[in-house]
Amino acid sequence: MSVRSMEQKDKKVLCIGLVCLDIISVVDKYPEEDTDNRCVSQRWQRGGNASNSCTVLSLLGTSCAFMGSLCAGPVASFILEDFQKLNIDMSLVSEHAQCVTPTSLVISSSSTGSRTILHINRNVPDVTAEDFSKVDLSHFKWIHWEGRNVDEQLKMIQQVARHNAALPLQQQITISVEIEKPREPLYELFAYGDVVNVFVSKDVARHLGFQTPQTALEGLRCRVKVGAVVICAWAEKGADALAPDGLLVHSDAFPPERLVDTLGAGDTFNAAVIHKLSNGARLEEALTFGCRVAGGKCGFHGYGGIADMVTGQE
Ligand code: ADP
Ligand code: FRU
Repeated sequence: MSVRSMEQKDKKVLCIGLVCLDIISVVDKYPEEDTDNRCVSQRWQRGGNASNSCTVLSLLGTSCAFMGSLCAGPVASFILEDFQKLNIDMSLVSEHAQCVTPTSLVISSSSTGSRTILHINRNVPDVTAEDFSKVDLSHFKWIHWEGRNVDEQLKMIQQVARHNAALPLQQQITISVEIEKPREPLYELFAYGDVVNVFVSKDVARHLGFQTPQTALEGLRCRVKVGAVVICAWAEKGADALAPDGLLVHSDAFPPERLVDTLGAGDTFNAAVIHKLSNGARLEEALTFGCRVAGGKCGFHGYGGIADMVTGQE
C-alpha cells in the first residue's frame, strides 16, 4: 500500500522525548537515610516518559514510533531490544556514540506504591527541528511531544501545522504535548498554534498555585487557545479535562486492590487517552479509559500486565 493511499487508521502515533534506563529497587518500606537495607527485588526497565507511553500504546494495540536519542553500548542494546520486543518502530531513533545513557535510580516502595526517582542526564541531546524535518509525516496520525527543549519543539509543531494546512481535516495529524515538569519555559506550549491536546501534570498545576484538577483547569482556561483540550491527571483523584466546548469533564480514579507501583502512571494515563482519542473516542470515554488503565497499572510492577488487563474489556 502506498503511503499516499494510507488510511488514517493505519497510520502510527509518534512520541518524541526521552528514553532512559530505570534501575528499580523494590523495597517493603522506604528506607531511612544512612541505613543498610535489603531490597525485595531489583530490575532494569526501559524508561522515559515518551518511551513509556510508546510501551503502553503498543500494549493497547496502537502502532507507534519513538523518536529520541540513544547512546552506544550495552545499555543501549538493552533499550533497543526492549523497544523491539514491544514492536515499537525505532527507525527515528538517533544514536549518539559519545553520550552516556540517561539513568534513573528508582526506589519503589511496595507498601505504598510510591516511586522515588533520582535521575541523571549528562549529555544526551534532544531531538531538534532539523532532525524532525527529515521525518516523513505522512506515516503519522498523531504526534505527541514530551515537553523538553521547547524552542525546538515549537519549530517542529510549526512544521506539522504547515503539513496539516495542505490536507483535508480528516487526514491531518493531531498534535499533543505533555507539560510535566514545573519549568516556566515549558508553559509556552500551553497556547501554541495547532496544539490541540495539552496534558498537564498535577506538579505543574500545583506549581501554578492550583490545589485541585478542577481549579487548575478553570485557571488554565485563559492560557490555552479556544477549542484546545487540556487534560490533568491527579493520582487518586482521577483526572479532569477541559473539553473543546469549554465544559469540564471528570473521571474518578480506579484504584487497584493494592497500590504496588506508581512509576509511569502518568505516562500510562497519557498513552491510554491518546489510544482512545486517536481511534475516534469521545473525551469522556478516553479520560475514563486512561484512569482505568493507569489505576490498574498501579496494581502491578512494570507495564506487562496492561495487555491482559484490557483484553476483552474495550
Ligand atoms: P504521574 O505519574 O505523572 O505522577 P499521576 O499521579 O497524576 O501521574 O497519575 C496518573 C493517573 O494514574 C491518574 O489519573 C490515575 O488515574 C492513576 N493513578 C495514579 N496514582 C493512583 C492512585 N494512588 N490510585 C488510583 N489511581 C492512580
Ligand atoms: C516515569 C519516568 C521514568 C524515568 C523518569 C524520568 O514517568 O519516565 O521512566 O526514569 O520518569 O523523569
